[in-house]
Amino acid sequence: MPAAARVPRFVQLYRHDDQALKAELSQGLLAAHAALSPKFLYDALGSRLFDAITELREYYPTRTEAQIFQRHGADMAEVLGRGIPLVDLGAGNCAKAGRLFGVLQPRAYVAVDISVDFLQQSLQCLQREYPQMDMLGVGMDFSSRLALPPEAGSGPRTIFYPGSSIGNFTPQQAVPFLRQARAAAAGGHLLIGVDLVKSVELLAPAYDDALGVTAAFNLNLLNHVNTLLGSDFDVRDWQHVALFDDAQSRIEMHLQARRETAVVWPQGQRRFAAGERIHTENSYKYRTETFEALLHEAGFEHTTVWTDARRWFAVWAAH
Ligand code: AVJ
Repeated sequence: MPAAARVPRFVQLYRHDDQALKAELSQGLLAAHAALSPKFLYDALGSRLFDAITELREYYPTRTEAQIFQRHGADMAEVLGRGIPLVDLGAGNCAKAGRLFGVLQPRAYVAVDISVDFLQQSLQCLQREYPQMDMLGVGMDFSSRLALPPEAGSGPRTIFYPGSSIGNFTPQQAVPFLRQARAAAAGGHLLIGVDLVKSVELLAPAYDDALGVTAAFNLNLLNHVNTLLGSDFDVRDWQHVALFDDAQSRIEMHLQARRETAVVWPQGQRRFAAGERIHTENSYKYRTETFEALLHEAGFEHTTVWTDARRWFAVWAAH
């Protein structure tokens, strides 16, 4: 008799109407150089817009990373071991992890994402494909502190952090995060995707595509903030700006006021001059040596790296 199909379990560790969240948003909006965390890009619509970005001709990271997994998946499994539980940080649509199930054969899958509604749909879909696998969804903001709930079990696991999301941290912030990832792996590995430095002719369009999907993704942050904070941003007053800062080796995304505008929310208000910006994201681009040095600084002693033929993107297994 076949075993009964399982259903994914869920834990929500992220509160929507949190005072801390509102304070964080207010503070970001009132800062001399207004800035909001890129985590606010991911409400249900934002997660879908990001999915659309990954399909764009200009946005090379997702498909380049997928090529690396496809080509070197078997080698990765040799390094990581088969059957080890897989913890997916920023799981989104769960597609990347799902494509590794065949080669890694994880005993359990833990999908972590800040956008829990989106995660629920993705995980239920994946569970139908793998009815016997132990699956857990965790709604959590791991950007400030990465600590897995007890439901995630114990023992060595592979911490999967693909897509170059590490690029959202400054290198100084990345080190403590990587240290926490190493602790969360509990003797297992970190499997991490990192975007590499390349010419601005390739980088700039990846963050400012012809169809305006990235612009919509960035602008949608204002709608999400309106929902969370009760602010009255009008998306039509704002414009998407993406630029490459060579000195810091990072793409920056900003929202720039098209005209003078005022924004009001229950705890505050701010006037923005025409041309004034809200910084919404950094996306750091690394040299392989530089990133390898960060891994070592975070306590990883053994590292293996795989890249594509053009050296646009790299995947590390670190332990
Ligand atoms: C999900 C953080 C890896 O930085 O490329 C895509 C997000 N921002 N287009 C990236 C993003 C604009 C993406 N990460």
